[in-house]
Amino acid sequence: MKKTILSALVIFILVSCKSKKVVTENKTEIEVTSAVSSEISMADMIAQGETLYTNKCGNCHALPKVKEHSPENWKPILLRMQKEAGLSDKEREYVYNYIVMQ
Ligand code: HEC
Repeated sequence: MKKTILSALVIFILVSCKSKKVVTENKTEIEVTSAVSSEISMADMIAQGETLYTNKCGNCHALPKVKEHSPENWKPILLRMQKEAGLSDKEREYVYNYIVMQ
């Protein structure tokens, strides 16, 4: 539920950024389409981050609670754990996005 609200917020932010463009560039349909696709890929990234997190981060130790660390503290931890879990830089970003969206 909380996740849904946050996703809605992200979508709202994305859409509101895009709507400014719509006004200035006057390409309503094209801009609306691109706003929708970036919203989907953001949701996809977070979903992928969740999958990676649950599949890879509980292998060596108990799955950490995302709230155990602040977003700032997660950054160096994820840089260390990226190597442990064999994540690419992109995958680490997805996991980070998932963590901070919780
Ligand atoms: C190959 C084993 C391995 C995997 C996979 C792994 N970890 Fe770890 N993790 C460790 C070890 C060993 C430590 C303790 C040493 C350290 O903190 O560097 C640790 C410590 C931690 C800590 C505590 C750090 C602190 O400073 O308190 C967190 C949080 C954590 N891991 C999160 C994760 C996350 C998130 C993932 C997935 C991206 C992950 N781990 C994947 C081995 C692993």
